Amino acid sequence: MGWFSEDIVTMEDLFQHTLQDIYYAENQIQKALPDMVEKATDPELKRGFKKHLVETKGHIKRLEQVFKKLKKQPKGTKCPAIDGIIDEANEIAGEVDDKMVLNAALIAAAQAVEHYEITRYGTLVAWARTLGRADVAKLLEANLKQEKATDKKLTGIAKKKINRKALVQGHAKKKKMVARAERDAATLAVGIPSI
Ligand SMILES: [Fe+2]
Ligand SMILES: [Fe+2]
Repeated sequence: MGWFSEDIVTMEDLFQHTLQDIYYAENQIQKALPDMVEKATDPELKRGFKKHLVETKGHIKRLEQVFKKLKKQPKGTKCPAIDGIIDEANEIAGEVDDKMVLNAALIAAAQAVEHYEITRYGTLVAWARTLGRADVAKLLEANLKQEKATDKKLTGIAKKKINRKALVQGHAKKKKMVARAERDAATLAVGIPSI
């Protein structure tokens, strides 16, 4: 959107812009999810990410149906918010050492993505209704429902086991690291010749 262009004037324009935003976001999520499937070591979490990858492909298809109903070509508009959320997820995943703590980090990152999608779809459903497009609202609502269900499922997995396991395993790992560092320091001290 340029400084002097008035691309968004009406609510229809705003709706279309936001639709393009979530279309871009869904495509970025589709690209990011295989990496999350790979990194997750908890089998239930891995399965959950795999399932959501299939659902995400469905979300993109439904958005394409929305574009078609509006007689527009499916098009994305760069969304710095989702790019930032995904970048941050990759960054933190690269910094976590323990596998179970990484599972907890992946859940947190995925929930940030889901919450972004929920806010976008919530808005789009409300606007579609205001614009008198119940047919479009219905499609968007189907996506919204799956995002909410995914978010709930992630909360369930985290609370049921991952958070607790991550707490225990993270501490155990830290203890080992400290012990190793102390051993290394002791070996080094022994190796230093006295003057
Ligand atoms: Fe989605
Ligand atoms: Fe999602």
